[in-house]
Amino acid sequence: MSVDLARVLSSRYATKVFDADKPAAEDKTQQLIETLRLAPSSINSQPWHFYVISNPEEKRRLSQCAWDSNKAKFDDASHVFVFCGKTTYEIEDLQALEELVAEQRGTEVNQARVEFLGGFVNSMDATERKYWIRDQVYLAFGQFLLSCALLELDACPVEGFSREEMDELLGLKEKGLNSVVVGIVGHRHEDDFNTPVKASKVRYPIEQVVTEIR
Ligand SMILES: Cc1cc2nc3c(=O)[nH]c(=O)nc-3n(C[C@H](O)[C@H](O)[C@H](O)COP(=O)(O)O)c2cc1C
Repeated sequence: MSVDLARVLSSRYATKVFDADKPAAEDKTQQLIETLRLAPSSINSQPWHFYVISNPEEKRRLSQCAWDSNKAKFDDASHVFVFCGKTTYEIEDLQALEELVAEQRGTEVNQARVEFLGGFVNSMDATERKYWIRDQVYLAFGQFLLSCALLELDACPVEGFSREEMDELLGLKEKGLNSVVVGIVGHRHEDDFNTPVKASKVRYPIEQVVTEIR
């Protein structure tokens, strides 16, 4: 399959107005969910959990924690993806991961790897670890946005909500999770003012953001 990446990436945009009568197709949202599971992460830590909400009352309830400018997106788009990170990552998590590797590959648990990677994890204090976990969640989020575009689904990345309130609404603390970022998915309303045709994409020139050293 050859993909015209430039076309895909210049046609995706942060959708501001969703069409409540055009839900995302189930087979596409299932493919999107699989992209979350397949996302890469540092040391394959996968320190995350994703909530995928399509229930209308639940979407409305969660919209309470969104900025006013984002509330209608929760209502009108068919799916709200809440990207969460673990509150911490410990040696026990590494041990469980290596046990999964052994189980899935039919090998012995690589205890030396647990020790080695444990040194890396332990080199981070609690704050560094929190941001490291958040970095991993954002990697999955980037892959998710690209995947939406490839699946011809419209999406809006959303940080405009209270993480503390989202954590409360989803009961995340007791599950050892924190909300990080939200992805709203559906199809654009024909009146959306932010399509690339109505509001052209603004990016810095290539020389300002890229230095090629050949
Ligand atoms: C992490 C992140 C958070 C964002 N949060 C919001 C938001 O809360 N509400 C909103 O309408 N747009 C939000 N945006 C959309 C950005 O403003 C938009 O991606 C940016 O202006 C580039 O435009 P484009 O995505 O249409 O190319 C967010 C984007 C990102 C990547």
